[in-house]
Amino acid sequence: MKVVFLLIILSIIGLASSDDNCYPETVYMTLGEYYSPDYSETSCTNTLQISFSTVNQCSDSYVIVLPEINEAATAGHFNSQNFLQQTAQPILGKKQSVVEQSWNGEKFCHNGKNCEKVYYQKFVHYFTFDLCSFKKRFTYKIYGNIDESPRVFTGILPKRDRSSDEIQQFLAFGDHEISVPGNYTISSLTQLIQENKEYDGILFLGDYAYEFYNNNATKGDIYMNSMEPFYSYWPYMFSPGNHEDCYNFAFANQKFHMMNNISQQNNNVFSFNIGKVHFLSVNLHYFNNGTGVIDPQIQESMLQSVEKDLITANLNRKSQPWIFILGHKPIYCVGRSDCYDYYVQYQQFDKLFFKYGVDIFLAAHQHETTKYYPMYQNDTMPYQQFKQNIILNPKSYMQILQGNAGCNDMGPTDQYYNATWILSRSFDPGFGTLQIINDNLIQFLNYDSQTNSSLEYTMIYSDHSYHINNNNIDYGLYVNI
Ligand SMILES: *[C@@H]1O[C@H](CO)[C@@H](O)[C@H](O)[C@H]1NC(C)=O
Ligand SMILES: *[C@@H]1O[C@H](CO)[C@@H](O)[C@H](O)[C@H]1NC(C)=O
Ligand SMILES: *[C@@H]1O[C@H](CO)[C@@H](O)[C@H](O)[C@H]1NC(C)=O
Ligand SMILES: *[C@@H]1O[C@H](CO)[C@@H](O)[C@H](O)[C@H]1NC(C)=O
Ligand SMILES: *[C@@H]1O[C@H](CO)[C@@H](O)[C@H](O)[C@H]1NC(C)=O
Ligand SMILES: *[C@@H]1O[C@H](CO)[C@@H](O)[C@H](O)[C@H]1NC(C)=O
Ligand SMILES: *[C@@H]1O[C@H](CO)[C@@H](O)[C@H](O)[C@H]1NC(C)=O
Repeated sequence: MKVVFLLIILSIIGLASSDDNCYPETVYMTLGEYYSPDYSETSCTNTLQISFSTVNQCSDSYVIVLPEINEAATAGHFNSQNFLQQTAQPILGKKQSVVEQSWNGEKFCHNGKNCEKVYYQKFVHYFTFDLCSFKKRFTYKIYGNIDESPRVFTGILPKRDRSSDEIQQFLAFGDHEISVPGNYTISSLTQLIQENKEYDGILFLGDYAYEFYNNNATKGDIYMNSMEPFYSYWPYMFSPGNHEDCYNFAFANQKFHMMNNISQQNNNVFSFNIGKVHFLSVNLHYFNNGTGVIDPQIQESMLQSVEKDLITANLNRKSQPWIFILGHKPIYCVGRSDCYDYYVQYQQFDKLFFKYGVDIFLAAHQHETTKYYPMYQNDTMPYQQFKQNIILNPKSYMQILQGNAGCNDMGPTDQYYNATWILSRSFDPGFGTLQIINDNLIQFLNYDSQTNSSLEYTMIYSDHSYHINNNNIDYGLYVNI
């Protein structure tokens, strides 16, 4: 009786304060510095970051992470069994920062078109958590304000270090907006949640909500709110797209902080390790002369960061045998006229990826899913192929495009100008699921979200050794991987 009374009181307080504009929206969860290759401590700090926006500053906001509450418990039937299974205590998040997003009529454009003045005021809250004692699934409660009823979410935290027989799975897609094709993908992802799929993360490959700044940037918020069930559930790793490039990516950098490097204030280069994979995200748009963000100083520092990161990644290759690059615009491209010379603009990265034995370059931009044969210097490199879909020991990195999540501009583009580069290609809306099977074997599966079916899979077997003679790293024992 008392409990019911208390609940009624609490909900009245909740209602009374619901017009304080502290409702948490655009919630997403992303990995913390614990997953960064620079993280050397043996303790467990900053495993996870949870972020959301409010209209007002809401300085009393807080977030609690607690052992998973199952459906029965959230429905009101408290299940003590579920709590007993977990040893972890509820944890209060550390508020790292509240970033004010304040735009007062600045003109946003995309390539000089679709220009709009943006009036926008939001506060982005960043909380970090030390969750090593938690199991993979957990519950979190976001309080936009101290006396407001919380929004309750479930999250999946990937294990950073894992035994060699555990298969890892990721989702990968980019170029997504609320649209007929984009909604097919939303339905398919909903189905994956219903099936309790425990992906280690979403690799988002740029271009959210074309153009996010429309209608005073409500278009981007509506998109992020529609995707909230997924971005709040699996860690969301965001690599910037060219449609985010206004004001040096400032708006997206306020909204998204990857790896919680608060001091860095941008998402141009960041990397993380999960299980057997080293991921490195690179904002190649600083090298793309159509975008208006070219700056030789940024270019130089990005090239240095990427090279430094890849050298370290190679020295760690026994732990992370796979090196994946995440980006938006591809280096190799067939079809659209705007991308014919990307290779020329991105040559320095082509060289670095080859020199340091990158396995996969995951990109998007073209609204299709396309797998390229290993490429280097504008030409294919040797590989062996079995049964059309198994590639053995590619002698360079393979570029895989997943720009087909769904937007209002889908459908076949021009003919290939060189079909011999391409292993497979599809223009249906969908997304990629990536499985890391072991040190030497991965599988890509394209999920067609319009028909709810899996398209042909591709397996890549690699001994990761093609680059051994391309650089002067002392690999020591690594060569025997
Ligand atoms: C996509 O789904 C959203 C949410 O259900 C809906 O509001 C919107 O109208 C849909 N858009 C299209 C083009 O079907
Ligand atoms: C954006 O906000 C400004 C200021 O409130 C308003 O004048 C304008 O009409 C809004 N634009 C759109 C597209 O809603
Ligand atoms: C965070 O950013 C700063 C400034 O760019 C850099 O010096 C530092 O190494 C970064 N830390 C991590 C963990 O990436
Ligand atoms: C873009 O860059 C490429 C390669 O550096 C160059 O050949 C081309 O002329 C540039 N285009 C423009 C418009 O600057
Ligand atoms: C790259 O290769 C394609 C196809 O073979 C060719 O058409 C194009 O001119 C080449 N680009 C450069 C910069 O060599
Ligand atoms: C296509 O690429 C292959 C291998 O890179 C090359 O041998 C061939 O000449 C190219 N064809 C055309 C039409 O550019
Ligand atoms: C695909 O799955 C979704 C979600 O279960 C469902 O709404 C939709 O009707 C399915 N589409 C087809 C073509 O079966």
